[in-house]
Amino acid sequence: MSARGCLRAWQADAAARLEQLVHKFAGAYSETRWFWPRWFRRTAPGVWSQGRLYNPDDGRTCGGTVRVKGGVPELRGCALKVVCRSQIWRRPQDVVAAAGAPGVRLPIFIAEQARNAHGVLGRVIAFVMARKTWAQNQRAIDALKVAPEDHVLDIGCGPGRALSALAAKAVRGRVVGADPSELMAEIASDRNKALLRSGRVDVAVAGVEALPFPQTSFDKVLCVHLVYFWADLVAALREIRRVLKPGGQFVLLFRTTADERATSAFPPEVYRFRALAEVIADLRSAGLDLIEADGEGVVLLRGRRPA
Ligand SMILES: C[S@@+](CC[C@H](N)C(=O)[O-])C[C@H]1O[C@@H](n2cnc3c(N)ncnc32)[C@H](O)[C@@H]1O
Repeated sequence: MSARGCLRAWQADAAARLEQLVHKFAGAYSETRWFWPRWFRRTAPGVWSQGRLYNPDDGRTCGGTVRVKGGVPELRGCALKVVCRSQIWRRPQDVVAAAGAPGVRLPIFIAEQARNAHGVLGRVIAFVMARKTWAQNQRAIDALKVAPEDHVLDIGCGPGRALSALAAKAVRGRVVGADPSELMAEIASDRNKALLRSGRVDVAVAGVEALPFPQTSFDKVLCVHLVYFWADLVAALREIRRVLKPGGQFVLLFRTTADERATSAFPPEVYRFRALAEVIADLRSAGLDLIEADGEGVVLLRGRRPA
């Protein structure tokens, strides 16, 4: 092989390894990721979602949205966003991997950072988290139906990206983020500096076990990718009930045991995944009502404190 060929092969290999790292470690929370289109091959016609441009004749795409289905990243694109000659593209190696090869598990030291971020690595995790969980946060924020006067609590706010989005909806209300990681609380505060100064947003260093707020403080509560870290789910839900006003609503968004392949990528020493039925039963034990549960692998559960 020529020197140029070797270099190309090395580059392709390095790029694939990097992408795999992102896929396994950083992208583990997300349903939607970005990949370099040329890694994909068109394999079958399929259902369309999210418009992206592609040229079915020369196989080149202009960007693409990837959904991970059954462990296989699928690139979806759309010609002109209007007339969908829809197709699904798959990377051949992922199809093989999904057919039987065991997935790689997130190392415990990285999973630990998701639960309790600290140090330099914690900052990297916070940076990645703010991007990787954003789509899910938006889904949860939409479902929360925040009103202009609402007082909203984001439990486990992490890097705090949702706080400004919530504040944009609760224009005459107030938004509070709570996170037991001092580093996450610091990052969330920095990210929302101006809103903190204006008094519309606040950030507390606190976990769900003991929220430092009087009872019936909030109209809405948000929890995204959090329940895995709660040792006592009923106690945590009771605490949510305590800080909610009667009739106040909450949204929990979390991965359930339904998608075994996705959950097996997380170490059980840190992550405890639960079946949807278990969460719903605990919710009722905590004195909360279920309004709706949407989704399977990643579930959005909306509920309320009875009036
Ligand atoms: C996976 S991150 C999700 C962060 C954010 N909700 C998001 O969607 O980007 C989990 C967050 O929950 C926090 N956390 C861990 N244990 C917690 C607890 N017992 N109560 C509240 N938050 C907790 C972590 O510090 C971390 O910021």
